[in-house]
Amino acid sequence: MNESTPMEKIVALCKRRGFIFQSSEIYGGLNGFWDFGPLGAELKRNLRDAWWKSMTRQRDDVVGLDASIIMHPNIWKASGHVDTFSDPMCDCLLTQKRYRADQIEPQSGTVYRYTGARTDSGQSSSEPYSVLLTAGKNPESARKIARQFYTQRGLTEPELLGETTETATQTTRFNPENGSALTEPRPFNLMFRTHTGPIESEENVAYLRPETAQAIFAQYKNVVDSSRKKLPFGICQIGKAFRNEINPRNYIFRSREFEQMELEFFIKPDEITAKLHGEVQPWTEGADLSTPQPNWGWEMWHRYWVAERTAFYASIGLGADVLDYYWQKPEELAHYARACVDILFKFPFGTEELEGIAARGSFDLDQHSKFVGKPQDYFDEEAKLRYVPHVIEPSAGLDRLTLAVLCAAFHEEETIDEKGKKEVLTTLRLHPRIAPVKAGVFPLLKNKPELLAKAKSIHRDLSLDMNSFYDESGSIGKRYARQDEAGTPFCITVDFETLEGVKEGLLAGELDTVTLRYRDSKKQERVRISELKAKLLELIR
Ligand code: GAP
Repeated sequence: MNESTPMEKIVALCKRRGFIFQSSEIYGGLNGFWDFGPLGAELKRNLRDAWWKSMTRQRDDVVGLDASIIMHPNIWKASGHVDTFSDPMCDCLLTQKRYRADQIEPQSGTVYRYTGARTDSGQSSSEPYSVLLTAGKNPESARKIARQFYTQRGLTEPELLGETTETATQTTRFNPENGSALTEPRPFNLMFRTHTGPIESEENVAYLRPETAQAIFAQYKNVVDSSRKKLPFGICQIGKAFRNEINPRNYIFRSREFEQMELEFFIKPDEITAKLHGEVQPWTEGADLSTPQPNWGWEMWHRYWVAERTAFYASIGLGADVLDYYWQKPEELAHYARACVDILFKFPFGTEELEGIAARGSFDLDQHSKFVGKPQDYFDEEAKLRYVPHVIEPSAGLDRLTLAVLCAAFHEEETIDEKGKKEVLTTLRLHPRIAPVKAGVFPLLKNKPELLAKAKSIHRDLSLDMNSFYDESGSIGKRYARQDEAGTPFCITVDFETLEGVKEGLLAGELDTVTLRYRDSKKQERVRISELKAKLLELIR
């Protein structure tokens, strides 16, 4: 991606090539909801699998969970979501459009205030109203907006009353789109409510989960008892989460239905580590984080997970050039958090959060202990003590990650076609590990049955182990270009050399070769068919 790649180009490619579609598009779409098309579904699946493999299959200290989306509503009372999972929202007094109060761009200008309005026929309103005009605008436009406001209140051709003006600097109390005053900010709970069973009453209210994490805390005891894991260990989960975001925005970056990939990594509280090992190893700049040590406290574990997650992103093609970090300041931390770092990605619309890694202490397990009346604790055989473990939580969004890898992979190149015309070729330089299609298989010519048969048999064989795509239509150049745009890292062409036949002293097939073309370098080499699959598997591993 070039820093200046506009989002529109990425959005257009995603639609054209079947990565992402607007949900319910034929009905005009539904704001905040998205569908993943054939290539998008594969890409997402590969990212999900890469995360799952690195978080649990390749580790002995993390196990997985797949919990239900709707859970007991008290879980959300215990977690604090019922009372505090809200964003401040305000409405435009003119259009009733809803905004997130903390996302309104500060503006400066002149505020026109009115005490009310009346009409010749005796109608009146004493509702105060105000409009912000930015520098250089005609005062009449403020009056026009104010008249619209009182007209909406039922007054025909209103005459404005009590106009006063004042200067405002950096105010967020007015709609940046039309200057109208906004309502006072008020909290808006982001959880989607529903009901379980046939009766819609307050007794059977339930929520679509706003995060996957709480299911892990709710099943913590069952997992400890059944997996017999010893601290430190983790439970991870991938699944859908739902938030009724006030302003879904930036394509799939902030949506109302999305997928999370979360790990709750349970560690010994520092007091227990100190008791067992005489000291807790403090974190220092440059500390060796490669191998966890028994005397690590929460700070070392927190840093360890930042390093692990950074290595994961590098393994799928998101390196230091596209990532950044934001360490929350003490005053920004949730009351229970000791530290929180956001891993950021440089999106075309700005550098924004991809994942949060929080040190949450024992807050969640303590809350559930309180609400269910049973300690959600752990018996430490080494310390001969019972206690509630502390938690480090790396929490990532799969949809955001999908968008990030698409943005990072987007590459355009200007070339001159056969007719001497300028054309722009788009390549998605996705890491082979996550590319939706790994190999495109083509017969050189469509009208040679021997080429078709050979290419189809190679495609069928590759399909047993990877996503392969067979294509016989159009010129070979066009077929390469289509696969470049889909992010396919390797293309295989079956040509006449492939069919050269029996060489002296060798059995048929032993010398058969194909052309293997590399998407990013455009280099081509001849590879024996008998060695092709092993070579590709190594390249996409
Ligand atoms: N359990 C902690 C938690 O849920 P969060 O920062 O609210 O923390 C974690 O969410 C991650 O989930 C974010 O870093 C982001 O990647 C993803 N996420 C959160 N809200 C989202 C939304 N509305 N749309 C897409 N992804 C979202």
